[in-house]
Amino acid sequence: MLSSTAGYVSMVAASACLLPLGSKPAGARSGSGRKHRRGRLSCKAAADGDAKRLEVDRRRVLLGLGGVAVTTNFGLSLAQGADASQCAAVPITAEVLQCVSVPGGFRCPGLYNPSDVVDFSTLPRPRGPPRVRKAAHLLDEADVKRYEETLGRMKALPDDDPRSFKRQSAIHEAYCASHYKVVPAGGGPETVSDVHYSSIFAPWHRMYIYFFEGILGDLVGDPTFGLPYWNWDTPAGMVMPAIFDNKCSPLYNSRRNPARVHGFIDLNLGQPKPDKAQKPKCTDDELICRMEDNLAILYRQMAVSTPKEFYGGKFCSAELDDKGKQQHKVTGSLEAGAHTAAHIWLGDPEQANQDMGDLSTAARDPVFYSNHSNVDRMWHVWSTKLGGPLLPYQEWLDTSFVFYDADKRPVRTKVSDVLDIGKLGYTYEEHGELPWLGKRPKPATGIDRRPGKRSANKVTSSYTTVTLRNDENVYMTVARPEKAWAGGGSGKKAPEALVVDITLDPCEYVKFDVLVNVPKGQEYKVGPRNAEFAGSFTHVPHGRSFGGGMAMIQVSYQFALRELLEDLKSGDDGQLDITIVPVNADEVVIDDARIELL
Ligand code: C2O
Repeated sequence: MLSSTAGYVSMVAASACLLPLGSKPAGARSGSGRKHRRGRLSCKAAADGDAKRLEVDRRRVLLGLGGVAVTTNFGLSLAQGADASQCAAVPITAEVLQCVSVPGGFRCPGLYNPSDVVDFSTLPRPRGPPRVRKAAHLLDEADVKRYEETLGRMKALPDDDPRSFKRQSAIHEAYCASHYKVVPAGGGPETVSDVHYSSIFAPWHRMYIYFFEGILGDLVGDPTFGLPYWNWDTPAGMVMPAIFDNKCSPLYNSRRNPARVHGFIDLNLGQPKPDKAQKPKCTDDELICRMEDNLAILYRQMAVSTPKEFYGGKFCSAELDDKGKQQHKVTGSLEAGAHTAAHIWLGDPEQANQDMGDLSTAARDPVFYSNHSNVDRMWHVWSTKLGGPLLPYQEWLDTSFVFYDADKRPVRTKVSDVLDIGKLGYTYEEHGELPWLGKRPKPATGIDRRPGKRSANKVTSSYTTVTLRNDENVYMTVARPEKAWAGGGSGKKAPEALVVDITLDPCEYVKFDVLVNVPKGQEYKVGPRNAEFAGSFTHVPHGRSFGGGMAMIQVSYQFALRELLEDLKSGDDGQLDITIVPVNADEVVIDDARIELL
């Protein structure tokens, strides 16, 4: 399987193109790769410059000149919900949340008249055979032809058609790069709406590609057209699918990382770091090691036991804790895992001309939709085969967004409308077992765990404010809540997680790894296949095309600990040694790190 990927490069030599290319010729990009500005000022500085333009445009929107509205029913459901205090700070309604175009720049993905909006639940359910989403690397010739044909037609639609590829990809940009503003109904500061870093990630992206797929099917009159998935969770799928690499095809995009476009994906995003010592030695073939690391990373992302770990936290702009203090948003493992790695793999965030590496441009690359088809499949697998529960938040179920369908109708769709893919009329074609299921990480060998080797950090139940520097590990010893370890290991313990609060610049790519109970100086013995490797926090940059304009992001990540502690036989320990290994995290601020029962 793996050797076939080595020979892959030769298969993709360019031939004479029969179709016009949608993107700039490859030569146009050489040397023009503007280095993305580094440093935390990059977003902030631009924010001031954009504020005026945004303000002007927002007034246009409020005057009824257009914009796509998003509504959630937070206000309504919260009135009866147990968690009312948490989201009530920012009630989001159709009136206050509007898309903001940038004059002379970004145009909102579609304008509609609110009275034209139809409710998804009132539309007839699909009848007939389901759409079948197949693994992109296993498509037959007819499947590829059909996909090329329909995407070609979509790209040929006039720009102002809401079904056009331009408008479709603008939807993603609008929802992640500051174009939707949330203005609290009762006053208060305006905030930015984003469909990342929270539990809205999974359902919003499901809706997005569902409507995209429906339009594609319609354009070739094929109601069974299914969006292929990039099967990066199986070894044979761990390269970008070849269908996206034919220069003559509408599926092609020249704005990708040329160094990685034919390579075997590294979900650990091993950087060419100056300090190579951070990586455990690979005693096998390099590709086998990478594959095993990938499978272990997938295992970790999927083997989480609570819905909050998997989906992320609430979709409110600012959650409040019970003391009324503003909390960070919480990213789920579905988002921060392989999904993010695939973005960064194909788009070097340091290069301004590689679409996948920035959420505001990512959906301009056709491979984006297949990445998300697989993300959606991972959600489906987790919530069915692995028995993962849905989030128990009523406001999650009631949150709704408007998308154009194949008939150019704006359709208001609620999260509760999209929980069952059978009802949506599509299915995933599976082939073979899920290879990551059996890849539970094992304790690293050769680690000297004698007590004297453990760190001499001050023990605390909560660590505050550390600014990360690349290649400088941060060591902390964090106490576990007594409930988590007391009781002598008998009985089933509640799942717990290391919760890390992070403040980051949305324009920057961020990755750091977290290790548990690894003595200082022995980090290089631990990799994703080891139980000590709790996981990574990763973040895809936003908003380069927007020229900044985004405030710093405060987000939390939960590193699941239950299996890890079992495997390390540390279930009875009252405290854990935590090592934060910055991979690309210069100036990222850790606001707090603590262990919480879930
Ligand atoms: Cu909205 Cu892959 O991101």
